[in-house]
Amino acid sequence: MDSAKAYVDQNKDRFIDELIELLKIPSISADSAYKDDVIKTSEAIKESLEKAGCDQVEICETPGYPIVYGEKIIDPDLPTVLVYGHYDVQPPDPLDLWDSPPFEPVIKSTELHPDGAIFARGSCDDKGQMYMHVKALEYMTSTGQLPCNVKFMIEGEEEVGSESLGWFVERNQEKLANDVILISDTGMIAKEIPSITTGLRGLSYVEVEVTGPNRDLHSGLYGGAVANPINVLTKMIASLHDDNKHITIPGFYDDVEELTTEERAKMAEAPFSKEAYTKALDIEDVYGEEGYTTNERNSIRPTLDVNGIWGGYTGEGAKTVIASKAYAKISMRLVPDQNWEKITELFKNHFESIAPKGVTVKVTPHHGGQAYVTPIDSIGYQAASKAYEATFGKVPIPQRSGGSIPIVALFEKELKSKTILMGFGLDSDAIHSPNEHFGIWNYLKGIETIPMFYHYFTEMSK
Ligand code: BES
Ligand code: MN
Ligand code: MN
Repeated sequence: MDSAKAYVDQNKDRFIDELIELLKIPSISADSAYKDDVIKTSEAIKESLEKAGCDQVEICETPGYPIVYGEKIIDPDLPTVLVYGHYDVQPPDPLDLWDSPPFEPVIKSTELHPDGAIFARGSCDDKGQMYMHVKALEYMTSTGQLPCNVKFMIEGEEEVGSESLGWFVERNQEKLANDVILISDTGMIAKEIPSITTGLRGLSYVEVEVTGPNRDLHSGLYGGAVANPINVLTKMIASLHDDNKHITIPGFYDDVEELTTEERAKMAEAPFSKEAYTKALDIEDVYGEEGYTTNERNSIRPTLDVNGIWGGYTGEGAKTVIASKAYAKISMRLVPDQNWEKITELFKNHFESIAPKGVTVKVTPHHGGQAYVTPIDSIGYQAASKAYEATFGKVPIPQRSGGSIPIVALFEKELKSKTILMGFGLDSDAIHSPNEHFGIWNYLKGIETIPMFYHYFTEMSK
């Protein structure tokens, strides 16, 4: 296969413009006010897949948002790569922290991205990374170099738990049959340190509600004499970690996969600068579970974090009140062998059991999913490794990530194939945060690297 570099150089302005058009549509799956925009995005993806050379593209209806499916089958005897990505994005708020509006993409250069980065919600997660695959396909089809079959499955509910995708995969196993699943929805260590994500954490997401008195009360008349749901909730939450930052829920660690000393030593070889890490976040020091390094804390260890907490009076000025209710949203990141449904149950039982008299507690599970690890001796991993080597001039480092793409474990269960996570984002791209961006260099490098994966995967499958 020829290097895609020349083609990328010739077409890069158009590649950037097309992505910018896609980023203008606010496909926020969490907020039903954007329903039409989410659907409009699925139509735009369909059109782009047709233009890139898919023979058959359809918008598949589901109980939720549609899944865009496209394929190009050149020879049933050749291997098939299934590309997965998502066209939905996270809500952009808090809006006032964005330097430019989240759905009006602009290109600006930064210290890490001297060639410029596209600032917009979804630029990295995942429209930009997903679109690299569409453009890589365009390169391969328009230059007659597609070496194998390809299927695309792009969903619109990843950021809210991929419920409809699970439904779709269970019902379409034959249609989705493949030899390897390829995803770009993760990151790499640094531009000069390519890496392949070999693990994802699982997730259990719950919402809790603490109810005290039957109405909001005057905090002078009743203060001190009844349980204040906010005081109680914060104390209950604080008790979920001990002084060593271990999680105190009984049974929480029972099934946690323990890495061997050798595996941990191997992990520690990945470059990491605590100084750069703390500086990038403007924090004095890191914080986390005793006995583990930062890289371990955010990948191979389970966590529990409050993602939002509210109740009482939060408007301007002061109002003296004891609220009747307090709420929090809590996520638990899980590691291999922890079962997310079991963890959700353990959380619920424990949280209800620690509630003092005078309040009632309701725990509502949201979504969840299993962790994932992929071996590095598979053909898929080896092909990806060679692809990076061809375009970065360096062997990529395998690295387990702390993020979650819960559907990956389900793919393995339902479709019986391994997923290769070729991510081109950087931690500093601020996914889910204000000012999300994606480096143009990363975007183009992705488009250049992906065709090499197809090439090596087809070669090595013979
Ligand atoms: N692309 C991310 C996951 C990710 C990012 C994994 C970077 C590894 C490195 C994905 O869109 C995401 O945000 N997933 C959610 C889970 C989902 C169920 C809402 C997450 O990890 O919070
Ligand atoms: Mn994503
Ligand atoms: Mn995301």
